[in-house]
Amino acid sequence: MTIKPLIILPDPVLRQVSSPIEQVDDAVRALSTDMLETMYDAPGIGLAAIQVGIPKRMLVIDLSKEDEDRKPQVFINPEILQSSDERSTYEEGCLSIPDYYAEVERPARVTVKFVGIDGKEQLLDAEGLLATCLQHEIDHLNGVLFIDHISRLKREMVIRRFTKASKLRA
Ligand code: NI
Repeated sequence: MTIKPLIILPDPVLRQVSSPIEQVDDAVRALSTDMLETMYDAPGIGLAAIQVGIPKRMLVIDLSKEDEDRKPQVFINPEILQSSDERSTYEEGCLSIPDYYAEVERPARVTVKFVGIDGKEQLLDAEGLLATCLQHEIDHLNGVLFIDHISRLKREMVIRRFTKASKLRA
C-alpha cells in the first residue's frame, strides 16, 4: 500500500479525460488500495484515479463517519444512467483544491452503472451525499472539477489563487 501524491489545481492533468479499465486485474486492485489509503490519509470522502495522476476510470468513496467502521466503495467505469429532475445542494470540496469549499447544485438522485472490484457489473440508485459524491468523482473522470459548476467570477478567483500558490511551490 502506498500513499500517492495528490495532483493539485491548476495542474492540467486534472483536465484529462480518463480511459475505461479493460480488466479488473491485480494492478487495478492494487491501485484501488493505494487510492483508498491516499484518500484516508488526506483525509477525504472520495478520490478519482486522475487525482493521483492515473487517467483510468476508477474512483473510491467512503462516507462512513469517524466513529464508524470504514466502508470503502470502489467504482470502475462508472456511468450515470439516470438523474432526477429534483436537485440538491451540498457544500463541496476537493482534495485537488485543498481548503476551498463552495455550494454546488446537482441532481438529487442518480442511477449509476459500474463494475465492482470483484469485476461484476452493478447498478446503484444513490441519493443524498452519495449521489453528490458520485457525480463529483465521475466529473473528475471527464476532466471536470466542482469549480466548473460555480460562477465564473468565483472560479477565476480560485484558479488565480492556486496558480499563484503553485508558482511559489515551484
Ligand atoms: Ni474532487
